[in-house]
This record gives sequence, C-alpha cells and structure tokens, in this order.
Amino acid sequence: MLKKNHRVRIAMQKSGRLSDDSKELLTRCGIKINLQQKGLIFFAENMPIDVMYVRDDDIPGLVVEGVVDLGIVGKNVLKEIFLEQKEKFKKSLLKVLCNLDFGTCRLSLSIPLNIEYSGLDYFQNKRIATSYPNLLKNFLDKKKIQFKLCSLNGSVEVAPRLNLADAICDLVSTGATLKENSLYEVETVYVSSACLISGLQEISIFKKNIIDKLITRIQGVIKAKESKYIMLHVPISKLEEVTSLLHGAENPTILKLANDQTKVAMHVVSSETIFWETMEKLKILGASSILVLPIEKMME
Ligand code: PRP
Ligand code: ZN
Repeated sequence: MLKKNHRVRIAMQKSGRLSDDSKELLTRCGIKINLQQKGLIFFAENMPIDVMYVRDDDIPGLVVEGVVDLGIVGKNVLKEIFLEQKEKFKKSLLKVLCNLDFGTCRLSLSIPLNIEYSGLDYFQNKRIATSYPNLLKNFLDKKKIQFKLCSLNGSVEVAPRLNLADAICDLVSTGATLKENSLYEVETVYVSSACLISGLQEISIFKKNIIDKLITRIQGVIKAKESKYIMLHVPISKLEEVTSLLHGAENPTILKLANDQTKVAMHVVSSETIFWETMEKLKILGASSILVLPIEKMME
C-alpha cells in the first residue's frame, strides 16, 4: 500500500463548463476512477492518482497552497489570479504544464440588446459587473477607459436587469447565457481554454514520474484526437500529388497491391482532419478505396 503523500492529487471543476471534458480526459488517459456528484475526493484504482472535486475558481489557490499537486483550470481563472498576485509576489506562483484542447471560451464585455453600441467609449464611467476585476481593469486601463466596478461572484449576467450595472464582463462559450438575459457581446477582453497547472513546490521523484507519465498520456490523447489514419489506393504516377494533398502526413507506408500493377496502397497518419473536399480531390487524381479512420491512442 502506498502512503497518501505518494499519490498525485488533481483538482477538477465539480460542475460547469470544464467538468465533462476533464472527466473524459482522465478516462482517455486510462485512469480508472469512479467520479460522482457527491463527494470531494475520489481515488483511482489503477494509478496513484486522486481527484478532488471543487469550484473552478478555488483550483489555483489549492494548487498554490499545495493541497493538490495539479489542477485543470481555464486560463481565464489563471490570468485573473496572476494579475491579482503580480503586485504582491512579483511573479506567478503557478505554472502551466500543458495546454488542453477544451474549455475554449472568451471573456467578453456585453451590454443590453436595446442599447446601440458606439465603440469602447460607451464604457466611459459605466458600471460593469464581473468576477474578473483584474482582467477587466487590465483591458480597460490600456484603452484609457475609466469604469465603476461591480464585483460579483456568480450570476453576473443578471446585474443589468437588476440595474446593478450597465454592462457585464463575463465568460461566453455558446452564447446561450447572454441570449437568455437579453445581452450581446461587444468586445473580447481575453480568449481562454483549459490547461493543466502545478505549483512551484518541490515534489518527490515518485510523484514527478507519475506526473510525467500523465502529461505524456494527455499529449497522446490530444494528438490522437487531432490525427487520422488514412488508407487509400493511389496510381503510382500520382503518388507525389496525392502526398502533397495530405497535409501533416509524414513518411507514408507504401504497399504493393495483389492484383493491380498501376496502383499501390498508401497508409498514412495525418496530423490534420481530412475534409470531404480533400477526399474529392484525391478521387479526381485517381485514388480509390479511401478510408479515414480515427486514432484512439498515440505515443511517439
Ligand atoms: C460561465 C459564465 C456563464 C457561462 C457562459 O460560467 O459565467 O454563466 O459559463 O456559457 P454559455 O455562453 O455557453 O452560456 P462557468 O462555467 O465559469 O461557471 P461558474 O461561473 O459557476 O464558475
Ligand atoms: Zn467559475
């Protein structure tokens, strides 16, 4: 039995935009863990990894304090904390170990639908509700706009309706929340996506090995999702043209066909999605039996 402090603890958002994707990432990395809505800490069965389920805004603090070793968090939260701490600590107390391919959203300024937007000057001396005061200030200071901060921790989108604010600065992903609240986006303050973070504390070699293994798996999962395995039959005379159409394809495997001397089979891993348009072009070049397959796992 391993001692508790030999287990790597990861903080993840319990419920919200990042929860499902964070959970799926661990599953794809082969970590067997039964995450449930009720409960704070869950233990993986097949690796010395524990998950702590918390509010996303609490994750950077837990990582800095060393309560957890890693966190999956939006860069928006990270940047906000960084701006807040900058004065106090002069540098960030957190580091990004790897970027993740989900949680894409933007921190935007939005105003009520019945107001016509006249440009950034609109915000001069206006009341703006947000949970991201530092990112907002950083953005508007650069544009020389003075504003009145209305700092809220949740339900920012209802502030204009309650006449608490003239505008909001909040995250927009699908835009559904804005629509429901009769608001529209007028300026992008910050573009964000998820990432894996750690603190700056010293960790044991044992933990470091687990973390390195996890990062390699995460990178493999992301790469596999972006890549495709392509198989096709190509006229020998068109090999070069076909290869140039398959962007991101390195070192294709060429195989002889049993009953056709004019064509060869080509197998290739492409780091890019193959669009229908590319398949149609391949067909025009005389390629046939074109198969595009998803890749489940990848290690280089
Ligand atoms: C953000 C934001 C909105 C919502 C926008 O919340 O505060 O409520 O996502 O998404 P939409 O454009 O798809 O409607 P977040 O997931 O950060 O949860 P939290 O505010 O409770 O931390
Ligand atoms: Zn949040």
